[in-house]
Amino acid sequence: MRSLLFVPGDSPKKQQKGLESGADALILDLEDSVALDAKPQAREITRAFLESSRALPKRPLLIVRINGLATGMSDADLDAIMPGAPDAIMLPKSEGGTDVGHLAAKIAVREAEADLPDGTTRILPITTENAKGIFGLGSYSRSSHRLMALTWGAEDLSADLGAETNRLEDGSYTDPYRLARALTLFGATAAQVDAIDTVFTNFRDDAAFRAECLAARRDGFTGKMAIHPAQVAPINEIFAPSPAALAKAKQIIALFEANPGAGVIGLDGEMLDRPHLIKAQRLVARARKLAE
Ligand code: COA
Ligand code: MG
Repeated sequence: MRSLLFVPGDSPKKQQKGLESGADALILDLEDSVALDAKPQAREITRAFLESSRALPKRPLLIVRINGLATGMSDADLDAIMPGAPDAIMLPKSEGGTDVGHLAAKIAVREAEADLPDGTTRILPITTENAKGIFGLGSYSRSSHRLMALTWGAEDLSADLGAETNRLEDGSYTDPYRLARALTLFGATAAQVDAIDTVFTNFRDDAAFRAECLAARRDGFTGKMAIHPAQVAPINEIFAPSPAALAKAKQIIALFEANPGAGVIGLDGEMLDRPHLIKAQRLVARARKLAE
């Protein structure tokens, strides 16, 4: 998954546009982009959308963002949308692996009730939306076989901290958010799942958006969430392994295969050892998955 486009759960028009956006996944939102009074209607609209688009021959992954476990709304969200068989549930304000386990139990019951195969609905938590979530980042490993990836949030964290801003004048994040971003990478890697970068809300600033995508790819994120269809194409382009990177990775793998006893090998004046091989194998695996 390179691109994950947020679509408000109460907007059939945007849901339709989302299908045509080229995004690898749609995040059908029942949480912050839906007003409190509109929640019941958003659940119905989202379920109808799941039912009508699930069977399309070529479609994005369909992820539903429910309301947080502490809101008292998540059960009603799941009751309404699980019969539509979403591919995954996004859990906002996740405070750690225990929350994922808790949600996994709720999902398992609904899968049984809706006659869905057990364990097929994945979970994608947003991990840094409050201070507790930061300290939970080391706890996702083995939380649930449903765990799909980790992503992070900077806007709600800023509200939790009572910060005046989360970005400096030049657009870069202030220290607390840089830490949250880095810990998400560590947490995801420790849990052996992908790390997905957070949204960039200033959707008319294409240059700054591309720079943020490149920085995320550089550091090890494998995709990014989007809030506007115009952000999808740059994400897909930037997070797809480039032909040059793929060729180099295959060369490295072939070199180690040809030298099974070697721990370290030289290539083009560069030292290669086990971490380089693992990186190359991961890149090739990711390219193969994207090609499917
Ligand atoms: N998904 C699908 N379609 C979208 C979209 C989205 N996230 N954002 C915009 N569009 C559509 C618009 O409906 C519009 O369609 P039209 O040309 O048929 O009228 C077109 O794309 C161009 O949109 P634009 O006029 O540039 O933006 P806007 O002012 O209509 O919408 C937002 C701006 C921010 C309200 C909108 O992008 C949005 O709803 N984003 C998602 C918000 C969200 O889910 N947030 C929660 C996570 S942070
Ligand atoms: Mg939010």
